Amino acid sequence: MSDPSDLSVIPDRVEWSERLLVGVPEIDAQHKELYRRIDRFLRALSARKGKSEVLPLMAYLDDYIREHFAAEQQMMELSEYAGLGDHMAEHHFFEEEYRRLCARLDGEGATPALARELVALLVDWLDRHLESTDRAFGAHLSRHRARLSRRPSA
Ligand SMILES: [Fe+2]
Ligand SMILES: [Fe+2]
Repeated sequence: MSDPSDLSVIPDRVEWSERLLVGVPEIDAQHKELYRRIDRFLRALSARKGKSEVLPLMAYLDDYIREHFAAEQQMMELSEYAGLGDHMAEHHFFEEEYRRLCARLDGEGATPALARELVALLVDWLDRHLESTDRAFGAHLSRHRARLSRRPSA
C-alpha cells in the first residue's frame, strides 16, 4: 500500500525556464510570476504546512491565474486572434480543474493522489499550454505588432 503521507511527487522546485518563452515580453514576465506562485504553493504543500498557510497561497495563485488569463484574452481580442475560442477553452478547463482540486484540498487535505493531480495540472498541463498554445498566440501577436509598427502614421 502506498504511504498516505508520501507527497514526493511534488517537485522540489517549479521554475519558469527559457524553453517556455513565447516571445512577447509582458506575457513571458507574467508566466514567470505565475510559476513563482505555483512554486510557493506546491512547496508549502510538500512541506506539510497547515491550512492557515496553504489556503492563502492557493488563493494568491488563483488571483494571478485570473489576472493572467484576462490579460491574454484582452491581447487576443485586440489583435483579432483567430485561435481565441480554442485558447479560451483551454484556460477555462484549467481554471475549473484548479478550483475543483482546491476544493478537494480544502476538504480532504493533501493526499498523494491529490498531489499527483495538482502536479499534472500546475506543472505538466501548464508547461504544454505555454509550449504550444501560448507560443502560437505569441507568434501571432509578434507578427501583428510588427505589422502595426510598419504602418505609416496618418
Ligand atoms: Fe499564458
Ligand atoms: Fe494561455
